[in-house]
Formats: sequence, structure tokens, C-alpha cells
Amino acid sequence: MNKRVEKALNEQVEKEASSSQFYLSMASWAETQGLNGTSKFLYTHSDEERFHMLKLIKFINERGGVAVVPGLSVPKPTFKGIEDVFQLLLDHELRVTESINNLVDICLQEKDYSTHNFIQWYVSEQLEEEALARTILDKIKLIGSDKGGLYLFDRDLENAAIKIDTPPVN
Ligand code: FEO
Repeated sequence: MNKRVEKALNEQVEKEASSSQFYLSMASWAETQGLNGTSKFLYTHSDEERFHMLKLIKFINERGGVAVVPGLSVPKPTFKGIEDVFQLLLDHELRVTESINNLVDICLQEKDYSTHNFIQWYVSEQLEEEALARTILDKIKLIGSDKGGLYLFDRDLENAAIKIDTPPVN
């Protein structure tokens, strides 16, 4: 496997693993706030990020590279509120998208067209995740300080979490 591509893929492994940890921390915090639907949604989202990481690890190893399992820093344990959580989530996803786009650039520069093809799955995934985070943030802003609205929002997110199915790695 091209060494520059391998290094970039391993950096992406770390980013997906960090995303999983970050969302796990958000899920845990939401659980302590009685936001059960939000918590369930975020636990599921954390699992999805782990799946993104595993998919990369398998690809690197199958292509003759060596996947590196990263050490991770401790994510922040508390948040100012639900808007803070989803704003941080969106900001984080925007940085992940930048990193995926950078990977696409490297694949093209190194003429690694099979990795380029593989990484297109992540390009589409990022579009979906950014759109979802924006939709959720818009809803939170609409709710404002309406407690009844927050209750319904939390219940809706629980249903959204049930719909997300983490596919098998292979
Ligand atoms: Fe795997 Fe949400 O980026």
C-alpha cells in the first residue's frame, strides 16, 4: 500500500475513534440529564463512528498496510446544554469532512484509485451526517426554552436512534 495513503488512512482511524469517544461522552452526559431519547441517539451515533473506524482498519489491513489502533484523549465529560452538544457535534463533523476531503486529495495525488473509490462511501456519509446535525440544531433553536417542546424533541430523537442500523463491517 502507498505509504502516504496508509498514513492518512491511519490518521482517519484516529479521527473516527475520537468521534466515537466524543459522542459516547455526550450520550453519557445526556443520560444523566434525563434526556433518554437524546442519549440513545448519541450512543447509537457513537457506535456508528466505531463502525467507521473498523471499516478503515479492515481496508488498510486487506490492502497490505498495517492499521494502527490509536490511543485516545479523554473527551470533555459535561456540556452546557443540548444546543451546546449538537453545535459541538456539527463542528466536529465539519472537521471530519475536511479530513475526508484531504484523504481524497492524497489518493488522487498518489494515483491510488481503489482507495479513492473506497473513500467515496465516507464522502456520502459526511454529507448525511452534516445534514442530520444541522436539522437537529435547527429544531433545538426552534424549541428555545419550551419544556414541552424539549420533551417531544427528546422522544423524536429516540425514534430516530432506532432507525439507524449499524451495518456489519464486511
Ligand atoms: Fe465518521 Fe461522523 O464521521
